[in-house]
Amino acid sequence: MDMDMLEQDIERVLFTEEALRTRVQELAGQIDRDYAGREPILISVLRGSFVFMADLVRSITLPCTLDFMAVSSYGAGTTSSGQVKITKDLSESIEGKDVIVVEDILDSGNTLSYLLKLLQARHPASIRLCTLLDKPSRRTKPVEADYTGFSVDDLFVVGYGLDFAEKYRNLPYIGILKPCVYEEELVTAD
Ligand code: XMP
Ligand code: MG
Repeated sequence: MDMDMLEQDIERVLFTEEALRTRVQELAGQIDRDYAGREPILISVLRGSFVFMADLVRSITLPCTLDFMAVSSYGAGTTSSGQVKITKDLSESIEGKDVIVVEDILDSGNTLSYLLKLLQARHPASIRLCTLLDKPSRRTKPVEADYTGFSVDDLFVVGYGLDFAEKYRNLPYIGILKPCVYEEELVTAD
């Protein structure tokens, strides 16, 4: 599948490469200011946040470390169910550290409320949440981000790390899928 084939499935571009670059640099600037004199550890929640994480850390000028974690929420399709499972845990202890959790999108809040509670129990010095996208209209759990790239309406978005059925992560921008793609895939999804 080449990029043209992927682009055919996109109805509309929401955030261009340039818009993403500008906003990610602004977030990095805020983090630089807020954590001056400290050495935060950034934790990327795989897989969706890997592109955002890569761009964010390259704009942060403070010394920092990073780690990765992977979670899966049970249930098919485009909504996450109540249960969250850790499929890859951190490689290092976060005890006494200033943690920044880096997410692609905060939707129902289900994944992050679970994850933040779990990380809090490991006694970090502090913990903050940085999400590229926020869909506040869908929130069912009381989770708020400390750093938000953009707020989005209740639309399913792909690209810049975000997937639908594991595809579209490699698009350099964020867009909305054509409903036909969506409906076709949902019929065949497990
Ligand atoms: P919750 O509902 O737990 O969901 O806050 C967070 C996770 O759900 C996925 N998600 C999306 N993925 N486009 C995507 O590609 C979307 O519009 C979208 N909405 C939610 C995502 O994995 C996120 O971490
Ligand atoms: Mg995700």
